Amino acid sequence: MSAPLLEVSGVSKRFGGLQALSNVSLSVSAGEIVGLIGPNGAGKTTLFSALVGLHRPEMGRITLDGRDLVGLKPHRIAAAGMVKTFQNVALFLESTVLDNVLTGGLLRHPVEDARALARRCLDRVGISGISGKLARDLSFPERARVEVARALCTEPRVLLLDEAMAALNHAEMDEFMDLLRQLRSEGLTLVVVEHHMRAIMALCERLVVLNFGQVIASGTPAEISRNPAVVEAYLGRSAA
Ligand SMILES: Nc1ncnc2c1ncn2[C@@H]1O[C@H](COP(=O)(O)OP(=O)(O)OP(=O)(O)O)[C@@H](O)[C@H]1O
Ligand SMILES: [Mg+2]
Repeated sequence: MSAPLLEVSGVSKRFGGLQALSNVSLSVSAGEIVGLIGPNGAGKTTLFSALVGLHRPEMGRITLDGRDLVGLKPHRIAAAGMVKTFQNVALFLESTVLDNVLTGGLLRHPVEDARALARRCLDRVGISGISGKLARDLSFPERARVEVARALCTEPRVLLLDEAMAALNHAEMDEFMDLLRQLRSEGLTLVVVEHHMRAIMALCERLVVLNFGQVIASGTPAEISRNPAVVEAYLGRSAA
């Protein structure tokens, strides 16, 4: 077997008295779509933020293709090939779709090249027809695709999606998942945080479950859905 593309080992992150991540380890191989699930407050967004350099873990190692990432600034990690989308979409609402997407391309290219790259990214996610629309006028499915296009414009190897499908209905989710599968077939590696179990089970071949900052299970969707610790984590929280 080849070495994992992304390797997280023993990562811990504390916010004051709260241990948000505790000794988290996981690995993701090139070309996988891995789901990261867990109840609200489990630490999913915190882990993504640590991966892309927005939070520095107190302990642990994060490597991308063997390269150490802990301590690097977010733009360096993006340049190394890993970016995340934001849980609450952070587009520039008064700018056009094209301008929003090309900001991703400025990481590696001068503005004219970034613009050409942005057009290709819009095409890849199937929304080249709305490049001139203002971000504030977008529908939820369009916004989700613009977010992905902007991330693609940084030319990542690993894309971390934080609840990108949260505002979508079932049919829109199915279309969005088709897009993610297509991107994977083009060589992208994906880690997906999502609360919609139907979607995550259909999309991912492997799931990692966080609860109170710890990995409590990992395995195929079928294995995870019958794992007693996972069932307990979800039922325990919803009954609380
Ligand atoms: N910047 C911060 N400062 C202090 N505490 C934080 C910060 N960010 C997150 N937390 C806390 O860390 C814990 C993990 O939060 P996180 O946002 O990672 O959870 P999550 O799994 O993404 O939850 P959700 O499913 O609701 O998005 C929570 O208790 C949260 O309140
Ligand atoms: Mg979150």
